[in-house]
Amino acid sequence: MKALLLLILTVWLNSQYGGCSLSSSCSYPPSKWCSSLESAIECGVLKHCLQSNFTKSRQTGDSVEVALYYESLCPGCRLFLTEMLFPTWVLLKDIMTVTLVPYGNAQEKLHDQKYIFECQHGEEECFGNMIETCLLNMTEMAFPIIACMESSSDVIKSAQGCIQVFSPQLRWDSILTCVKGDVGNKLMHQNALKTDALNPPHDYVPWVTINGEHSEDLQQKAMTSLFSLVCSMYKGPKIAACGGSQKNYKNYCLNE
Ligand SMILES: *[C@@H]1O[C@H](CO)[C@@H](O)[C@H](O)[C@H]1NC(C)=O
Ligand SMILES: *[C@@H]1O[C@H](CO)[C@@H](O)[C@H](O)[C@H]1NC(C)=O
Repeated sequence: MKALLLLILTVWLNSQYGGCSLSSSCSYPPSKWCSSLESAIECGVLKHCLQSNFTKSRQTGDSVEVALYYESLCPGCRLFLTEMLFPTWVLLKDIMTVTLVPYGNAQEKLHDQKYIFECQHGEEECFGNMIETCLLNMTEMAFPIIACMESSSDVIKSAQGCIQVFSPQLRWDSILTCVKGDVGNKLMHQNALKTDALNPPHDYVPWVTINGEHSEDLQQKAMTSLFSLVCSMYKGPKIAACGGSQKNYKNYCLNE
């Protein structure tokens, strides 16, 4: 009963004050605001969450799958990941999924039941690939963390700080355990298998596939405007970000 009252009150408050009634008692990080009814109410974003959940439920299955085969220290990969792929995903994550495969032009050899990896830009790059692979296995915030690392001047040294920003409860020790242990070794081997299974095989990185397919045309379009490519390939109802609906973003917070 109390919850229902609170819900009605929140809906009303939301309709009265638009998006500006962000409650000061909100104890959740933004990524968790829509994860439950309680968090949505507490953070004053219920209306937004219900709408965004509704669009999500309509859109599952139709998402455009973008996969990036890359390596952590390749300058072209860093540029594409941070300035094209990540911002596009932020805007279009309702209609696209991203798969990151950090391996690229690396090589592997089996030695004493463990894989030994050799990377194009040396051991430092293998370390970066492995940190990112473990992150992808251990946290839902992997993509923002990886984008943060790849946009920093030092990809490896920034890792701890980037984790602290996006996933403060994730312990650096546990990442290192994965990086140095069998789990990381196994996960990296899976990246090797995925990369080696590419058809056509990759002859450079960053290498992009869209819905599992690679062609020079798709690659060129992804490199010049991934945003337009994803909007144009999405088969579901056009979303606002792609210029679809009459959704009005004009919602000002007045200076009173
Ligand atoms: C949004 O959807 C998620 C997953 O389906 C669900 O757990 C959550 O409670 C929903 N949030 C709201 C505010 O309805
Ligand atoms: C993480 O890796 C383990 C070990 O390979 C695997 O069983 C698990 O499904 C992976 N989890 C995710 C979220 O990728």
